[in-house]
Amino acid sequence: MDGNGRWARERGWPRLKGHEQGSQSVEKVANACMDAGVEYLTLYAFSTENWKRPAHEVAGLMFLLERFLSEKVAMMNEKGVRLSTIGRMHELPDAARKRLERAISETSHNNRLNLTLALNYGGREEIVDAVRAIAGEVRAGTLDPVKISSETLSDHLYTRGMPDPDLLIRTSGEMRISNFLLWQLSYTEIHVTRKLWPDFGPADLHAAIADYSSRERRFGEAHENPITASSNS
Ligand code: FPP
Repeated sequence: MDGNGRWARERGWPRLKGHEQGSQSVEKVANACMDAGVEYLTLYAFSTENWKRPAHEVAGLMFLLERFLSEKVAMMNEKGVRLSTIGRMHELPDAARKRLERAISETSHNNRLNLTLALNYGGREEIVDAVRAIAGEVRAGTLDPVKISSETLSDHLYTRGMPDPDLLIRTSGEMRISNFLLWQLSYTEIHVTRKLWPDFGPADLHAAIADYSSRERRFGEAHENPITASSNS
């Protein structure tokens, strides 16, 4: 959800105003996803690197997260949104973590949109955590190292059970992955828009989906003649 700071700076406002406006985009984009039939939406809300921001910005982001949860859980239940998180939850402030746990439990029966917030999340940290868990199983004698496959790693990531993303939308024109879902994005289509996150709305989501739909996804295979390729498979 990049560009909150720039959106605020363009107006001569403090960065937190940009984050506040950015949290409004979350609901609009989640609704547009449901209308478009998207079943999984994962938002990068707070990275492991974001702790290095000034203390008042970090505290402001935690406050916005808590406010979002207390205001939106009823709407999530009305619309069928199931909330989950990825990241090192145990390092979040107690109040935010408890509010999250409650929201996750209160929305656990929903199945229309899986809304995942990446919080205190880093792609490298996720892989490190998975490798630690796998190493623990090897040491305990419950996993044979020879049997470790890419599925084993996927099954030990925070995203276990979730499909890999089809589309990554990067706002504010950034051309980097920035430690997001490093393993899961292997074959994901990337759409970069110059729109800043607070200005990103349903029309931008539709444009991103249209761009995605025009791509030929090859997953590393040669598809020069798709008819032959599919009749052989
Ligand atoms: C990146 O913009 C955005 C963040 C680090 C925080 C995103 C958080 C929210 C939108 C609000 C809280 C979350 C929820 C789910 C309600 P930036 O500050 O890096 O912007 P810049 O690149 O323009 O400086």
